[in-house]
Amino acid sequence: MPTASGRLQYGPQKYAALHLLLCRWLRLYGTPTAEYCYVTLGGTELKDIESLRFVDPKLTSIVWSYEIDPARYKLAQQRAIQLEASGLKITLQCATIFSHQRTCDLPHIFFIDLPGICAFSDYDQQFADLFQNEIIREGDCLIITSHIVPRPGLDRVREHFGGEFAVLGVDDSDTNLVKSVFRRAHPTMTLFKALSLNGIQSELAVRCFGAVKYRDGAPMGLYGYSVTSGSTELSRFVTDAEIRYFDIATGQLCATDDF
Ligand SMILES: C[S@@+](CC[C@H](N)C(=O)[O-])C[C@H]1O[C@@H](n2cnc3c(N)ncnc32)[C@H](O)[C@@H]1O
Repeated sequence: MPTASGRLQYGPQKYAALHLLLCRWLRLYGTPTAEYCYVTLGGTELKDIESLRFVDPKLTSIVWSYEIDPARYKLAQQRAIQLEASGLKITLQCATIFSHQRTCDLPHIFFIDLPGICAFSDYDQQFADLFQNEIIREGDCLIITSHIVPRPGLDRVREHFGGEFAVLGVDDSDTNLVKSVFRRAHPTMTLFKALSLNGIQSELAVRCFGAVKYRDGAPMGLYGYSVTSGSTELSRFVTDAEIRYFDIATGQLCATDDF
């Protein structure tokens, strides 16, 4: 949420969601002794970077932070200078995160902390380019923030994800089902579209390991993905037994249909 000073402030629920997904990824896929490169969206406070640093400075051996808004970028620069005094070096870019280039061999943790919905615009093409150019590759972790309410309306959802619903056997005349699949899987289906655009779904295994819903002004979701060798098949991607659903409001795991 923007304050009068232009600084963005997010409530603790967002970071609780991030910490849960990070814990789960580190437990399932992380290597305790490994160093990581962290690639994130800036905002103005760079709060998520501090969380990773707290868990282990090796998670922030190299940090890239992207902020597309020039005014927020300036505020983020001030924050980065303060953090640098505590030994945390951040490379800030006033650019889109989708322009990130791989400059080291360390595994990457991407936090695509989007302010909108991870669907409908050209996100599939943007992620397709990241996969195609091996900016996101085996060994990486990808965490995506997205609004879980299909604000453009269910007809737009049906139109956009018609192909995915057909493969998944989703009856798109069932409004509750369409809403439910959208809530729990729209970033997953966006990533599948991205993989399919260049036929990479047969070369890379992207798996969802969890989704956490929370409120921060609006109902939001955080979705975690691992990237390993193998292949990605849509039905498994969306219904994988590895996916756990958690509701920050109740502090409990929730059933798939209740997400
Ligand atoms: C939710 S905030 C990031 C908050 C930050 N992760 C934190 O915890 O402090 C998202 C920011 O990303 C910026 N943004 C949105 N899309 C972007 C893009 N494609 N590339 C870079 N910045 C983007 C927005 O201007 C906004 O300031």
